[in-house]
Amino acid sequence: MPSRRTHPDVERVLISEARIHRRVAELAREVTHAYLNTELSVVGVLNGSIVFLGELLHRLPMPTRLDSVVASSYRAGTVSRGPVEIYRDFRLPLRGRHVLVVDDILDTGKTLSLICKHIRQHRPASLRTCVLLDKPARRLVPFQADFVGFKIPDAFVVGYGLDFAERYRNLPCIAVLKPQLYPHPR
Ligand code: IMP
Ligand code: MG
Repeated sequence: MPSRRTHPDVERVLISEARIHRRVAELAREVTHAYLNTELSVVGVLNGSIVFLGELLHRLPMPTRLDSVVASSYRAGTVSRGPVEIYRDFRLPLRGRHVLVVDDILDTGKTLSLICKHIRQHRPASLRTCVLLDKPARRLVPFQADFVGFKIPDAFVVGYGLDFAERYRNLPCIAVLKPQLYPHPR
């Protein structure tokens, strides 16, 4: 069985497992500092944020409530097509709460801007966003996250929760796959 660390489909590792863990620990400190003595409502964007969300959450010392939304996926492609949809909404009341939306990656900006617009209609006390990765070169909708793990170049990446056609989420690092595995030229 191939090792998870040297998966045969991986062309190159962009961010190693060790770098991710160091940066997520730092991000958790940044978030903790921003919300001192505040109860936080964390809303994870599934499925991509699941690994990052778990690691970030268990490093937050303040009282925290957890909820999630499910947004539309890329299906089997690497390019965002059409309007984004929210498939499953959050359940906890967010009115008057300090809300932190956590996602894996900020790409065109469509997903997070839609989710934030939707949450704002519920009148939270504050609303911020935290992403592990940011691809600023691909933005179609102006959007800046409040907490960013790494800015990365325009490449389709997998691992640490990010998928290609629902695979590779369990890779421990952020990696680029071999080009022959991707169907669309970017
Ligand atoms: P956006 O709406 O274009 O900003 O895309 C956000 C969503 O697209 C993320 O939550 C990811 O699920 C997915 N996505 C964007 N870029 C990548 C990538 O390089 N690898 C895997 N998923 C991606
Ligand atoms: Mg996602």
